[in-house]
Amino acid sequence: MAPDPHPSAPEMQVTPAAFPGRRMRRLRLSPALRALRRETHVSADQLIYPLFVVEDPAAAGPVPSMPGVSRFDMDTLAREAESALSAGIRSVILFGVPRHKDAAATEAHDERGVIPEAIRRLQTFADDLVIITDICLCQYTDHGHCGLLHGRTIDNDETLEVLAKCAVSHAAAGAHLVAPSGMMDGMVGAIRRALDADGFHDIGILSYAAKYASGFYGPFRDAAESAPKFGDRRAYQMDPHNAREALAEVELDLQEGADIVMVKPAMPYLDVIRDVRNRFPSVPLAAYQVSGEYSMIKAACANGWLDEPRVVLESLTGIRRAGADMILTYFAKDAADYLRRGLDC
Ligand code: PBG
Repeated sequence: MAPDPHPSAPEMQVTPAAFPGRRMRRLRLSPALRALRRETHVSADQLIYPLFVVEDPAAAGPVPSMPGVSRFDMDTLAREAESALSAGIRSVILFGVPRHKDAAATEAHDERGVIPEAIRRLQTFADDLVIITDICLCQYTDHGHCGLLHGRTIDNDETLEVLAKCAVSHAAAGAHLVAPSGMMDGMVGAIRRALDADGFHDIGILSYAAKYASGFYGPFRDAAESAPKFGDRRAYQMDPHNAREALAEVELDLQEGADIVMVKPAMPYLDVIRDVRNRFPSVPLAAYQVSGEYSMIKAACANGWLDEPRVVLESLTGIRRAGADMILTYFAKDAADYLRRGLDC
C-alpha cells in the first residue's frame, strides 16, 4: 500500500502550564488586550428590528407593556424605517394588525391588506433595507389561533394553503424574505412551492423552526392583538421541556427549503441555539429575543435596578455566543446606537 501522502500530525500531547506558569488574567489587563482576545462580537448588521404596523391609524401609538415600542401607521412606519437605517439597522420584520378579523383570516392574504401596503410604503428604502414579513394567521383570525379551526382543532393542511397565499401576497408587494411563525407542519414546503410557482424563486424563507409555547410572548400579544380567545398554543408550538425535538424541527424545515432557521425565544433557550449550531454548522441561524425578554429588561432598568446599555449588549452577546448569527430584537436601534458610541458589556 502506498504511503499516505498527507499523514496526519501525531496527536498533540500538550499539557498546558498551570499556575503560576499560566495566568489567565494576563489577557484581561487592558481594554486593548481584552479586545484582542474577544471571541464574540455583536454588530448592527446582525440585528433585525421588529415593527408593528396598524391598518387603522387611530390604533397607532405606544405599547404599554413594551416601553419604548410603538405601533406605526403607514406614515410613521416609513419614518421609523428611515430612523432605523440612520442608526445602522438594515433589516426589519413587519407584523400587521388588520382592521378586520374573521374565521378565515381573509385579510392575511389580501393584496391590499396591511402588510402588502406597508411593504409598498417601504419600497423607497428597499435597496438598503432587508424587508422581512411575519407569516401567521393569529393577528387575522377572530379566534386568535395561528391556523384555521374546525371546531376547536386547527386544520393543519388547510392552513398551509392560506399561509402560502400570504407569502405570495407579501412577495408580490416586494418583501425580500418571508418568515412563517405559525408552527404548522409543512409550512415551509408549502410556501416554497407557492413562491416558486409564481416566479418568486429569489424570495427566501426565514423559518421560525423551533418556536416554543412560551409565556414570554405576553407583551407581543397586546401589541399585535393576537392572544387566542380560548385555550393556548401548546398543540402547535413546542413544549419548553424539549431540546432534541428542536433539532427534528430544524432538520425538517431545512429539507422543506428554509434559508434561515430560527430559535425562539432566545435567552431561556440558549442551549437550543447551541445545539442547532453544533448540529447544523453551516446553516444561517437566527434567534428571537422576544417581547417578554425585552419588557423584563426594560422594567428592571426603569427601576434603576440594571444598567440598560450594559445588560442589553450583554444579553445580545450571550445569544451570539450561544451560536446565533442574527438576532431579532426590539432593542435593535438602541443597541446599534450603543455600539456606535463605543459602549460594550
Ligand atoms: C405570531 C407571533 C408571535 C410572536 C411572533 N410571531 C406570538 C405568538 O406566537 O403568540 C412573538 C414575538 C414576541 O413575543 O416578541 N405567531
